[in-house]
Amino acid sequence: MSLHLGDIAPDFSQDSTVGPIEFHKWIGNHWAVLFSHPADYTPVCTTELGSVARLMEEFKRRDVKVLAVSVDPVSTHKEWIKDIDDTQKTHVEFPILGDQDRKVSTLYDMIHPRQSDTLTVRSVFIIDPKKVIRTILTYPASTGRDFGEIFRIIDSLQLTDRYSVATPANWRSGDDVVISPAIKDKAALGAKFPKGYKEIRPYLRMTPYPGP
Ligand code: BEZ
Repeated sequence: MSLHLGDIAPDFSQDSTVGPIEFHKWIGNHWAVLFSHPADYTPVCTTELGSVARLMEEFKRRDVKVLAVSVDPVSTHKEWIKDIDDTQKTHVEFPILGDQDRKVSTLYDMIHPRQSDTLTVRSVFIIDPKKVIRTILTYPASTGRDFGEIFRIIDSLQLTDRYSVATPANWRSGDDVVISPAIKDKAALGAKFPKGYKEIRPYLRMTPYPGP
């Protein structure tokens, strides 16, 4: 099944390093990042999971729960976590699904047969509290993810949900933003964007960061 932005994230039950997880119930009223890694005891994945563990405060600040997926069993994950903690100087406390039956990997199309028949690629799904898929990213096994980019996307999604704006190329939280072209009524702009705005073209209007 191919998943698209705007779809409801498929629900599932699967065992994990912290016990069985019912996905929608586990998300609750939070945001979630579901991300796959190809296999346990692999070098790039070891650095990725270590990075995510170190970044947990940044995820929590954004109200985001993190769930990793791997097609290896929970028993192997638990042994591997000791290695991750030791080599990356972290404490992996977020759950890793034991997806050896490939239930979740298949549901989320994380196995790309021209890459590998059995291992997942590096997929990332950003899911909002209504369980809607807001972002899908796919990286090859040989490329470790940039988690700063994932925070940048979450910051953009959370900001653009609150204000009628979009974020331009290379935007970082705090930078100027683009006013949605859907707002045509010039009189409304002053009230909506009290920090003012600059009209570079009628379709390209910039305003200072609208958040607090
Ligand atoms: C890794 O995580 O290091 C890795 C996994 C599969 C293929 C290549 C690298």
